[in-house]
Amino acid sequence: MDLQIEYFNDGSAFKKIDPLSINPGYLTNFSIYEKQACNNQGYKFRCLLVDTSSMSKERLINLLRSWDQVYIHECQVGQYNEYLKNNLAYILHHEEIDIAQKTHTLITLSTDVVKDSFATNFGLADDCRATLSNVQRLISQAIGFISDTNSLPGIANLIGHDYETHIHSIKVGWLMATFINANKDLFNIQDDKEFTGLLVQAAVAGLLHDIGKIKIPQNILNKKGKLNNLEYIVIQSHTAYSSSLLFKSGIPQEAMKAILYHHENEDGSGYPGGLINEQIPIIAKICHIADVFDALTAKRHYKESKTPLAALKIMTGENPYVDTLQKFEKEVAQNRRTPVTAIVRDDYENKLKRLREKEIIEEEAMKRVELRIKLRDQGMAHCFDPDLLNRFILTINKSDSFNLSELL
Ligand SMILES: [Fe+2]
Repeated sequence: MDLQIEYFNDGSAFKKIDPLSINPGYLTNFSIYEKQACNNQGYKFRCLLVDTSSMSKERLINLLRSWDQVYIHECQVGQYNEYLKNNLAYILHHEEIDIAQKTHTLITLSTDVVKDSFATNFGLADDCRATLSNVQRLISQAIGFISDTNSLPGIANLIGHDYETHIHSIKVGWLMATFINANKDLFNIQDDKEFTGLLVQAAVAGLLHDIGKIKIPQNILNKKGKLNNLEYIVIQSHTAYSSSLLFKSGIPQEAMKAILYHHENEDGSGYPGGLINEQIPIIAKICHIADVFDALTAKRHYKESKTPLAALKIMTGENPYVDTLQKFEKEVAQNRRTPVTAIVRDDYENKLKRLREKEIIEEEAMKRVELRIKLRDQGMAHCFDPDLLNRFILTINKSDSFNLSELL
């Protein structure tokens, strides 16, 4: 489409952009407009700049500073987004752009990239490599920003929003990179370049840690009710799927470890390997903490979001029902039909007699799942490395945005 000097439009064909996102050192290939009120015809959009190819850098800097609200035409949004992808590092390090705007740009671009990754068939090795290289290109530009604890308010701003796989993935990568950068002493790496490589691997792992969910049937992933045991097993297979999909892409080793083992628990109750303590790679332990923290603080269709403080209390807390849980597991092992409430309540014998009817037993099966979730939510200390979890709290507390003083 030929772009014009002036448009009369109700505004729907134009997208507002931040003039600070234009890098004076990198040519634009899209036109920039200003919006003027116009009687009876909505607005007039007047072209301020066709592209920057014929302009000196000094003149462009002056122009950008003089603009407040500027727009691009919808037919050039693709070019603009591509421009942002190529200039992400510039934007994320621009002192005059605030954290909220940087976060918005990062989330918009990474959503594109992660959505593409999730949409990829992964049938061909070339597809995998192309996907991985897009993710790596994005992360390489963002790594300086997301590994800096000063960027943490950006994550805090996103706490409590609806859970979306794409946003969850970038937040996990962001938290991992920030954590590792603030706890360099955990890693025996002296070379700066090698350490940056590790940060990039961690963030890439965060972005792709749940990619295997593309192999899980949608009706299980999006199920509104509670999952049954079989469905839980199917969900658990996503770690193995993620690893086998990414194996073909040549993903670096540390990122692969994080992706494969991010659901292992310290006490061996996790999956896929049931690994314990030192058997679990440190990068996977970090991914696990970031993943659970973000999942608990996000809003899901079946639960409200928790505050960072409440989430961390669950993650650090001892399970107050540990005796009940052991009794419950023993009873279930002895008699699969034993109702749960009968075990956890005092009037065990009476309840047991009354709950023998089949339909009540089925109802109890649901309560059993609910109890498992309740028990899990009352304490997850057994899942995490206590030293790493403590360091995680100290790291995110470096930003005042999380209100964690009660925990320290
Ligand atoms: Fe996962």
